[in-house]
Amino acid sequence: MKQTYRILKPSAQNAETARQRFLHDVEQGLSQSPKSIPSRYFYDETGSKIFEQIMDLPEYYLTRAEYEILNNSRQQLAEMMNLQGFNLIELGAGDGRKTRVLLEYLQSAKIDFRYIPIDISPGAMATLQEEVSACCGDLEMLGVVGEYFQGLNWVEKQVGGASLVLFLGSNIGNFHPGKAKVFLRRLRQVLRPGDFVLMGFDLKKDTRRLNAAYNDKQGITAQFNLNLLNRINGELAGAFDLDNWAFYSWYNPLSGAVESSLLSQVRQTVHIGACDRNFVFDAWEAIHTEFSFKYSEAEIESMAKLAGFLVVHHFYDNQHDFVDSLWRVPA
Ligand SMILES: C[S@@+](CC[C@H](N)C(=O)[O-])C[C@H]1O[C@@H](n2cnc3c(N)ncnc32)[C@H](O)[C@@H]1O
Repeated sequence: MKQTYRILKPSAQNAETARQRFLHDVEQGLSQSPKSIPSRYFYDETGSKIFEQIMDLPEYYLTRAEYEILNNSRQQLAEMMNLQGFNLIELGAGDGRKTRVLLEYLQSAKIDFRYIPIDISPGAMATLQEEVSACCGDLEMLGVVGEYFQGLNWVEKQVGGASLVLFLGSNIGNFHPGKAKVFLRRLRQVLRPGDFVLMGFDLKKDTRRLNAAYNDKQGITAQFNLNLLNRINGELAGAFDLDNWAFYSWYNPLSGAVESSLLSQVRQTVHIGACDRNFVFDAWEAIHTEFSFKYSEAEIESMAKLAGFLVVHHFYDNQHDFVDSLWRVPA
């Protein structure tokens, strides 16, 4: 049995660069109007654990819908791609609970592939490693702890062959549409003719369901957002008092996104030690934390085309809540 797990973790130097970048992004985000912090900073070890709880929430239909899609469509997906000896690259893999059903199927169908998850969170990668080890012991896995394109460029240089890139969980929805287009064009550039992409999109739907999904009754999504301030306190010597902040999230049909923020409940000044600066927040001023864009099929197809992909097939769950869209790089 071959059991190959290689986790390429950032070096101490890279970790320091990552901290500097975090500081730079926080300083810049809190200096602009409206204030904001990029959502990629949600995923420290605590944030990744809280996200696992979010995926189990009754209101958060997204994970269950995509699990159903992968479970019901894995054979058809494999037949459509008809690949052997390929790289199954997953961007922002998280704990991989949905990917597992695909990995198990490909193994049982004796399809030859190696699994290359890329995730910025070392905590998520550790959980994923355990998960893959439990389900698919003899699978070759090369885990990359790093940014999406840092990982993709590494794969491009070190590992040859055809690829299927998974970008699940509606991660693409966290990009503003303009940035999503740039991201997809860049993705297209690092792939080769004949490569595939399976991209998860949350579809536009009744706003009450969208609002419920991001405003769960147990307050777990609120904790997930507030953890950003905890992270700044821990890593950047911030002095945020979490009792002075409230989570706010609502679907805006004009932007097409669930827009999440943290509201300052009082006028307050917060010191961040790592840059030795004070930031002033007015009462009820917001820090924008996340966009979760929702798409229609027409918008998805137009995005794929603009980035230079061919749409092969849309895989849906039974309720038509979510779509995993299969794209191919043309020859
Ligand atoms: C919303 S979770 C989705 C996880 C998984 N794909 C799923 O569908 O359940 C987003 C994941 O992407 C990772 N992530 C966020 N920004 C990233 C970036 N810029 N580069 C690499 N990974 C990133 C996070 O650490 C997290 O595990």
